[in-house]
Amino acid sequence: MDDLKAKYLSAIADAGDESTLEDLRLQAVGKKGEVSLKMRELGKMTPEERQTAGPALNALKDEINSALAAKKAALGDAALDARLRAEWLDVTLPARGTARQGTIHPVSQVWEECTAIFADMGFAVAEGPQVETDWYNFDALNIPGHHPARAEMDTFYMHRAAGDDRPPHVLRTHTSPVQIRSMQDQGAPIRIIAPGRVYRADYDQTHTPMFHQVEGLALDKNLSMANLKWVLEEFFTAYFGTKVKTRFRASHFPFTEPSAEVDIQCSWENGTVKVGEGDGWLEVLGSGMVHPHVLRAGGVDPDKWQGFAFGMGIDRIAMLKYGIPDLRAFFDSDLRWLRHYGFSALQVPTIRGGV
Ligand code: DAH
Repeated sequence: MDDLKAKYLSAIADAGDESTLEDLRLQAVGKKGEVSLKMRELGKMTPEERQTAGPALNALKDEINSALAAKKAALGDAALDARLRAEWLDVTLPARGTARQGTIHPVSQVWEECTAIFADMGFAVAEGPQVETDWYNFDALNIPGHHPARAEMDTFYMHRAAGDDRPPHVLRTHTSPVQIRSMQDQGAPIRIIAPGRVYRADYDQTHTPMFHQVEGLALDKNLSMANLKWVLEEFFTAYFGTKVKTRFRASHFPFTEPSAEVDIQCSWENGTVKVGEGDGWLEVLGSGMVHPHVLRAGGVDPDKWQGFAFGMGIDRIAMLKYGIPDLRAFFDSDLRWLRHYGFSALQVPTIRGGV
């Protein structure tokens, strides 16, 4: 019995896991275990022998059972300890900065910068639909059906249903139709800008089929080209954050008379453009005095009112200010590009320099 006791107590003490313990339990005190077999032998003993062997075997069985229970509890505690050590978490550590922040697209930023600067000069924001009738996009702007400007515009036409021979709608090719809509809505005097999306079937490094323009329109009793020039120079100086010279070149647009294309002063050094210095020029917009036909189309009397209009590429001036070389990347939705050229939502555009 002493051998049995020594054998099982040391095996139990050495057991490394619960299944080993269970095997030991079966070997010792299970139905066919060594201790149980010994107990069966009690029947063959003399009453005297039984009197000492019986209690001793019972005591041995109890001792083994309680050693098994104690070891089982110890193994459970050790397992819990190991788990607690492995799954330990310092809840006082600062959170990991894994949440990526989005950025404001350069077009949105520049759009807002333009709005802020022109608003400061008293221009309200006007809007019009991107799907236009050909009357608003062309005729009302003094571009009749046979005019070459229609063919040159690379217009996207919207299909009519078969049998419907009304002229097709177009994706507006410029923001100029908003001039007509604003005159119809508000009459004169008026001072608006219309930033928005425009569409032309054209695609290369400097052209995308969708791009952005900001239109300007100011009508009053005695506005002249001088007012136009002041407004644009004031705009460029605020936008680029430095004094910018402009150059007005005589040009032709059907909706203005006279018409001028406007260049801004820049330098070209090692392939990079710097605005507001040097003796180079860069074309940035079209403008002029609003044609009487256009005023009439908008319901404004050309004998009483006159004024100027201009149309400028938002993407173009965004590239110039922020040194972005390829227009196509604007609309690729490449996250690396957006993170590099994008703006913090907290960089709210202001009249001075925008950012
Ligand atoms: N609509 C012209 C274009 O998209 C730009 C333009 C030129 C707008 C002269 C004007 C303007 O308002 O007066 O090319």
